[in-house]
Amino acid sequence: MAADLSPIDKAKFVAARRAVDYVQSGMKVGLGTGSTAAWMVRCLGEMVREEGLKIVGVPTSARTADLARQVGIEVVSLDEAKWLDVTIDGADEFDGEANLIKGGGGALLLEKIVATASDQMIVIADAAKEVLTLGAFPLPVEVIPFGWQTTKALLEETIESLDVLGHQTTLRMTGDRPFITDEGNYIVDLHLQRIGDARQMALVLNQIPGVVENGLFIDICDVVVVGHGDGRVTVRDVTAGTQEEETMEFVESDNLFRDMGD
Ligand code: 5RP
Repeated sequence: MAADLSPIDKAKFVAARRAVDYVQSGMKVGLGTGSTAAWMVRCLGEMVREEGLKIVGVPTSARTADLARQVGIEVVSLDEAKWLDVTIDGADEFDGEANLIKGGGGALLLEKIVATASDQMIVIADAAKEVLTLGAFPLPVEVIPFGWQTTKALLEETIESLDVLGHQTTLRMTGDRPFITDEGNYIVDLHLQRIGDARQMALVLNQIPGVVENGLFIDICDVVVVGHGDGRVTVRDVTAGTQEEETMEFVESDNLFRDMGD
Protein backbone atom coordinates (compact mmCIF):
# COMPACT_ATOMS: atom_id res chain seq x y z
CA MET A 1 0.00 0.00 0.00
CA ALA A 2 2.70 2.47 0.98
CA ALA A 3 4.49 1.79 -2.28
CA ASP A 4 1.39 3.03 -4.10
CA LEU A 5 1.58 6.49 -2.54
CA SER A 6 2.49 9.39 -4.81
CA PRO A 7 5.68 11.35 -3.95
CA ILE A 8 3.51 14.17 -2.58
CA ASP A 9 1.63 11.77 -0.28
CA LYS A 10 4.93 10.24 0.85
CA ALA A 11 6.16 13.77 1.62
CA LYS A 12 3.01 14.49 3.66
CA PHE A 13 3.29 11.15 5.43
CA VAL A 14 6.94 11.54 6.49
CA ALA A 15 6.29 15.09 7.73
CA ALA A 16 3.39 13.80 9.82
CA ARG A 17 5.39 10.82 11.08
CA ARG A 18 8.24 13.06 12.19
CA ALA A 19 5.95 15.64 13.82
CA VAL A 20 4.28 13.14 16.14
CA ASP A 21 7.66 12.75 17.89
CA TYR A 22 6.70 16.00 19.64
CA VAL A 23 3.72 14.31 21.30
CA GLN A 24 4.13 12.64 24.68
CA SER A 25 1.78 10.81 27.02
CA GLY A 26 -0.40 13.13 29.08
CA MET A 27 -0.49 15.84 26.43
CA LYS A 28 -3.52 17.71 25.14
CA VAL A 29 -3.10 17.89 21.38
CA GLY A 30 -4.75 20.11 18.77
CA LEU A 31 -5.57 18.06 15.69
CA GLY A 32 -5.45 19.94 12.37
CA THR A 33 -7.49 19.45 9.25
CA GLY A 34 -6.58 18.36 5.72
CA SER A 35 -4.82 15.50 3.99
CA THR A 36 -1.46 16.05 5.75
CA ALA A 37 -3.10 16.42 9.15
CA ALA A 38 -5.06 13.23 8.47
CA TRP A 39 -1.76 11.35 8.26
CA MET A 40 -0.77 12.84 11.61
CA VAL A 41 -4.07 11.73 13.17
CA ARG A 42 -3.54 8.21 11.83
CA CYS A 43 0.03 8.15 13.20
CA LEU A 44 -1.19 9.29 16.63
CA GLY A 45 -3.98 6.72 16.53
CA GLU A 46 -1.44 4.00 15.88
CA MET A 47 0.65 5.21 18.83
CA VAL A 48 -2.45 5.18 21.06
CA ARG A 49 -3.47 1.68 20.01
CA GLU A 50 -0.07 0.02 19.82
CA GLU A 51 2.27 1.96 22.11
CA GLY A 52 -0.11 2.95 24.91
CA LEU A 53 0.20 6.69 24.21
CA LYS A 54 -2.28 8.53 26.41
CA ILE A 55 -3.49 11.81 24.94
CA VAL A 56 -6.66 13.76 24.42
CA GLY A 57 -7.23 15.48 21.08
CA VAL A 58 -9.04 18.70 20.23
CA PRO A 59 -10.08 18.47 16.56
CA THR A 60 -10.29 21.52 14.31
CA SER A 61 -13.16 20.18 12.18
CA ALA A 62 -15.96 17.65 12.20
CA ARG A 63 -14.08 15.47 9.72
CA THR A 64 -10.94 15.42 11.88
CA ALA A 65 -13.10 14.58 14.91
CA ASP A 66 -14.59 11.63 13.01
CA LEU A 67 -11.16 10.35 11.96
CA ALA A 68 -9.67 10.81 15.44
CA ARG A 69 -12.46 8.76 17.05
CA GLN A 70 -12.16 6.15 14.31
CA VAL A 71 -8.43 5.62 15.02
CA GLY A 72 -8.88 5.51 18.80
CA ILE A 73 -7.97 9.02 19.99
CA GLU A 74 -10.07 10.42 22.84
CA VAL A 75 -11.71 13.60 21.57
CA VAL A 76 -12.53 16.53 23.86
CA SER A 77 -13.68 20.08 23.22
CA LEU A 78 -11.36 23.06 23.57
CA ASP A 79 -13.47 24.24 26.51
CA GLU A 80 -12.84 20.91 28.25
CA ALA A 81 -9.12 20.98 27.48
CA LYS A 82 -8.80 24.76 28.07
CA TRP A 83 -5.16 24.98 26.93
CA LEU A 84 -3.15 22.62 24.74
CA ASP A 85 0.44 21.43 24.80
CA VAL A 86 0.81 21.25 21.06
CA THR A 87 -1.18 21.59 17.85
CA ILE A 88 -0.09 19.86 14.65
CA ASP A 89 -1.68 21.06 11.42
CA GLY A 90 -1.06 21.42 7.70
CA ALA A 91 -0.80 24.63 5.68
CA ASP A 92 -1.47 25.84 2.17
CA GLU A 93 1.65 28.04 2.13
CA PHE A 94 4.48 28.83 4.53
CA ASP A 95 7.27 31.38 4.24
CA GLY A 96 10.78 31.62 5.72
CA GLU A 97 9.43 33.06 8.97
CA ALA A 98 6.84 30.28 9.34
CA ASN A 99 3.98 32.62 8.57
CA LEU A 100 1.18 30.73 6.86
CA ILE A 101 -1.84 30.77 4.63
CA LYS A 102 -4.39 28.25 5.85
CA GLY A 103 -8.02 27.49 5.17
CA GLY A 104 -7.85 25.68 1.84
CA GLY A 105 -9.94 23.01 3.55
CA GLY A 106 -12.30 25.60 5.03
CA ALA A 107 -11.36 25.03 8.68
CA LEU A 108 -9.30 28.17 9.29
CA LEU A 109 -11.42 29.57 12.12
CA LEU A 110 -11.19 26.58 14.44
CA GLU A 111 -7.61 25.97 13.29
CA LYS A 112 -6.58 29.49 14.34
CA ILE A 113 -8.42 29.30 17.68
CA VAL A 114 -6.91 25.91 18.51
CA ALA A 115 -3.37 26.81 17.37
CA THR A 116 -3.46 30.04 19.36
CA ALA A 117 -4.57 28.11 22.45
CA SER A 118 -1.46 25.90 22.28
CA ASP A 119 1.99 26.19 23.80
CA GLN A 120 3.42 25.15 20.45
CA MET A 121 2.11 24.95 16.88
CA ILE A 122 3.84 22.57 14.51
CA VAL A 123 3.08 22.78 10.80
CA ILE A 124 3.49 19.74 8.61
CA ALA A 125 3.76 20.26 4.86
CA ASP A 126 5.29 18.96 1.69
CA ALA A 127 8.11 21.05 0.26
CA ALA A 128 5.91 22.46 -2.55
CA LYS A 129 4.07 24.60 0.01
CA GLU A 130 7.12 26.76 0.72
CA VAL A 131 7.07 30.28 -0.80
CA LEU A 132 9.26 33.36 -0.63
CA THR A 133 6.22 35.62 -0.30
CA LEU A 134 2.73 34.52 0.73
CA GLY A 135 -0.19 35.02 -1.64
CA ALA A 136 0.00 32.69 -4.63
CA PHE A 137 -2.53 30.49 -2.83
CA PRO A 138 -5.88 32.35 -2.62
CA LEU A 139 -6.30 33.75 0.89
CA PRO A 140 -9.46 32.36 2.54
CA VAL A 141 -11.56 34.78 4.60
CA GLU A 142 -14.45 33.40 6.65
CA VAL A 143 -17.49 35.72 6.60
CA ILE A 144 -20.93 35.45 8.15
CA PRO A 145 -23.70 34.76 5.62
CA PHE A 146 -25.70 37.88 6.64
CA GLY A 147 -24.83 40.61 4.14
CA TRP A 148 -22.00 38.60 2.63
CA GLN A 149 -22.11 40.53 -0.66
CA THR A 150 -21.55 43.79 1.21
CA THR A 151 -18.71 42.19 3.15
CA LYS A 152 -17.19 40.94 -0.12
CA ALA A 153 -17.43 44.46 -1.59
CA LEU A 154 -15.73 45.88 1.52
CA LEU A 155 -13.00 43.25 1.20
CA GLU A 156 -12.45 44.34 -2.42
CA GLU A 157 -12.29 48.00 -1.42
CA THR A 158 -9.83 47.18 1.37
CA ILE A 159 -7.42 45.14 -0.72
CA GLU A 160 -7.30 47.95 -3.31
CA SER A 161 -5.38 49.97 -0.75
CA LEU A 162 -2.96 47.18 0.21
CA ASP A 163 0.30 45.98 -1.33
CA VAL A 164 -0.97 43.07 -3.45
CA LEU A 165 -0.77 42.08 -7.10
CA GLY A 166 -4.23 40.57 -7.66
CA HIS A 167 -7.62 41.95 -6.65
CA GLN A 168 -10.14 39.25 -7.60
CA THR A 169 -12.39 37.79 -4.91
CA THR A 170 -14.62 34.71 -5.19
CA LEU A 171 -17.24 33.18 -2.95
CA ARG A 172 -16.20 29.56 -2.35
CA MET A 173 -18.80 27.18 -3.77
CA THR A 174 -19.72 23.53 -3.41
CA GLY A 175 -21.44 22.78 -6.69
CA ASP A 176 -24.02 25.53 -7.18
CA ARG A 177 -24.28 26.44 -3.47
CA PRO A 178 -21.96 28.41 -1.19
CA PHE A 179 -19.48 26.28 0.74
CA ILE A 180 -20.54 26.29 4.42
CA THR A 181 -17.94 26.04 7.17
CA ASP A 182 -18.40 23.93 10.31
CA GLU A 183 -19.46 27.14 12.06
CA GLY A 184 -22.14 27.87 9.43
CA ASN A 185 -20.25 30.66 7.65
CA TYR A 186 -19.16 31.37 4.05
CA ILE A 187 -15.64 31.71 2.68
CA VAL A 188 -14.49 34.45 0.33
CA ASP A 189 -11.18 33.60 -1.37
CA LEU A 190 -8.90 36.55 -2.16
CA HIS A 191 -6.77 36.01 -5.27
CA LEU A 192 -3.92 38.34 -4.35
CA GLN A 193 -0.99 36.56 -6.06
CA ARG A 194 1.49 38.31 -3.77
CA ILE A 195 0.92 39.80 -0.30
CA GLY A 196 3.51 42.52 0.31
CA ASP A 197 2.74 42.95 4.02
CA ALA A 198 0.99 39.88 5.41
CA ARG A 199 1.07 41.15 8.98
CA GLN A 200 -0.76 44.35 8.03
CA MET A 201 -3.24 42.45 5.88
CA ALA A 202 -4.10 40.02 8.69
CA LEU A 203 -4.94 42.93 10.99
CA VAL A 204 -6.80 45.07 8.46
CA LEU A 205 -9.07 42.29 7.13
CA ASN A 206 -10.35 41.49 10.61
CA GLN A 207 -11.52 45.11 11.05
CA ILE A 208 -14.27 44.62 8.45
CA PRO A 209 -17.67 43.90 10.01
CA GLY A 210 -18.89 40.55 8.72
CA VAL A 211 -15.38 39.08 8.59
CA VAL A 212 -15.03 36.34 11.18
CA GLU A 213 -11.38 35.45 10.58
CA ASN A 214 -8.77 35.32 7.83
CA GLY A 215 -6.38 32.53 6.86
CA LEU A 216 -3.13 34.38 7.59
CA PHE A 217 -1.34 32.81 10.57
CA ILE A 218 1.29 35.34 11.63
CA ASP A 219 3.69 34.51 14.49
CA ILE A 220 1.58 31.50 15.48
CA CYS A 221 3.67 28.62 14.11
CA ASP A 222 6.80 27.58 16.04
CA VAL A 223 8.11 24.63 14.02
CA VAL A 224 7.71 23.66 10.36
CA VAL A 225 8.28 20.02 9.48
CA VAL A 226 8.81 19.80 5.73
CA GLY A 227 8.47 16.42 4.03
CA HIS A 228 10.03 15.38 0.72
CA GLY A 229 8.96 12.59 -1.62
CA ASP A 230 12.22 10.69 -1.08
CA GLY A 231 11.67 10.40 2.68
CA ARG A 232 13.80 13.37 3.74
CA VAL A 233 12.37 15.60 6.43
CA THR A 234 13.55 19.09 7.35
CA VAL A 235 12.65 20.34 10.81
CA ARG A 236 12.79 24.14 11.16
CA ASP A 237 12.40 25.44 14.66
CA VAL A 238 11.65 29.13 14.25
CA THR A 239 11.82 29.86 17.98
CA ALA A 240 15.19 28.14 18.45
CA GLY A 241 16.50 29.29 15.05
CA THR A 242 17.62 25.77 14.13
CA GLN A 243 17.18 23.54 11.09
CA GLU A 244 17.85 19.81 10.94
CA GLU A 245 17.44 17.31 8.14
CA GLU A 246 17.00 13.57 8.43
CA THR A 247 15.69 10.74 6.32
CA MET A 248 12.73 8.85 7.69
CA GLU A 249 12.61 5.12 7.36
CA PHE A 250 9.48 4.49 5.35
CA VAL A 251 7.97 1.72 7.46
CA GLU A 252 4.74 0.31 6.15
CA SER A 253 2.15 -0.44 8.80
CA ASP A 254 -0.94 -2.43 7.90
CA ASN A 255 -3.04 -0.58 10.45
CA LEU A 256 -1.91 2.85 9.37
CA PHE A 257 -2.54 2.38 5.68
CA ARG A 258 -5.83 0.56 6.09
CA ASP A 259 -9.03 2.52 5.55
CA MET A 260 -7.31 5.62 4.22
CA GLY A 261 -10.22 7.96 3.76
CA ASP A 262 -8.80 11.40 3.01
C1 5RP B 1 -7.61 23.34 6.16
C2 5RP B 1 -6.18 23.74 6.07
C3 5RP B 1 -5.20 22.68 5.66
O1 5RP B 1 -4.26 22.55 6.67
C4 5RP B 1 -4.54 23.11 4.39
O2 5RP B 1 -5.56 23.34 3.43
C5 5RP B 1 -3.55 22.05 3.89
O3 5RP B 1 -4.26 20.92 3.49
P1 5RP B 1 -3.53 19.65 2.89
O4 5RP B 1 -2.69 19.08 3.98
O5 5RP B 1 -4.65 18.74 2.46
O6 5RP B 1 -2.69 20.12 1.72
O7 5RP B 1 -5.80 24.85 6.32
O8 5RP B 1 -8.42 24.44 6.45
